[in-house]
Amino acid sequence: MKVLIAGANGQVGAELTRLVKSEGIEFLAAGRTEMDIGSRHHVMTVVKESQPDIIVNAAAYTAVDRAESEPDAANRINHQGALHLAEAAAKFGAILLHISTDFVFDGTKEGAYVEQDTCRPLSVYGQSKYDGERAIRDVSDKHIILRTAWVFGGEANFVKTMRRLAADRDELNVVSDQRGGPTPARAIAESLIRIAKDVLAPEFAEWGLYHFTGSPSVSWYEFACHILKDHSGVKVHPIPTSGYPTPATRPANSVLDCQRIKDVFGIEQPDWRDYL
Ligand SMILES: NC(=O)c1ccc[n+]([C@@H]2O[C@H](COP(=O)([O-])OP(=O)(O)OC[C@H]3O[C@@H](n4cnc5c(N)ncnc54)[C@H](OP(=O)(O)O)[C@@H]3O)[C@@H](O)[C@H]2O)c1
Repeated sequence: MKVLIAGANGQVGAELTRLVKSEGIEFLAAGRTEMDIGSRHHVMTVVKESQPDIIVNAAAYTAVDRAESEPDAANRINHQGALHLAEAAAKFGAILLHISTDFVFDGTKEGAYVEQDTCRPLSVYGQSKYDGERAIRDVSDKHIILRTAWVFGGEANFVKTMRRLAADRDELNVVSDQRGGPTPARAIAESLIRIAKDVLAPEFAEWGLYHFTGSPSVSWYEFACHILKDHSGVKVHPIPTSGYPTPATRPANSVLDCQRIKDVFGIEQPDWRDYL
């Protein structure tokens, strides 16, 4: 198996690169310089030359708030980039494993979102990711789209932000009316490898959408309290979303039902507390 990783320097991309290396899997780790997914020509050239069996798209425009004022940039990467990879995969006989987001939903559902639930993105970022999903579906049947949420593992994420703020503040206000499943980048990488191995079996037929997040589901406030449980000098206060206005609207309920990935691939939800 040869794996081409797009976005190899991001949170998930870097974990995946580490993991394929340690497992002795043949791979090409492509950061933005090695393969700009916004360029169809660049993608076609790299895929043609590297001849991967599996392409993992861990590349994305993830600046959720900035996307509100940069819709073209978000669209170029999250929509067009996904399309280019799907086209290249179809043309050169590779299977695309793509990562998407809970932000395709509007967060108004009572209970966890299943893969068949209607998407209604609230933000430019969410819409661009949803458009990417649809573009992939239009181009090929043989793909896997893994929707995840609240990713942590690299340098820029909620866990690192809370720890940094706790180092020089006595009190922190954290939103308590948005819920989701924090997801370790490492666990996403482990799942992608498991999926990559299974989908290469000739008899595999369970293509399409999967949800995958860590467990248990919490609010940002509860997540922060757990991250800072050993920082006794910091008091964490719950606040409503209205108390922390942001350019992009976020779903109040980001909880994803992860039953399908368990049924098909035997992948269990990781307990995110084990990865902190
Ligand atoms: N982070 C979350 O909380 C979260 C939640 C739900 C879903 N997701 C999804 O999970 C996936 C991985 O997210 P992540 O947290 O690992 O993101 P990340 O850390 O922001 O990494 C994204 C990577 O994509 C690269 N990239 C950006 N534009 C590119 C382009 N034109 N060509 C090639 N690479 C490009 C970035 O490179 P530069 O460093 O050069 O910009 C960066 O290394 C994404 O699909 C994201 O939408 C993330």
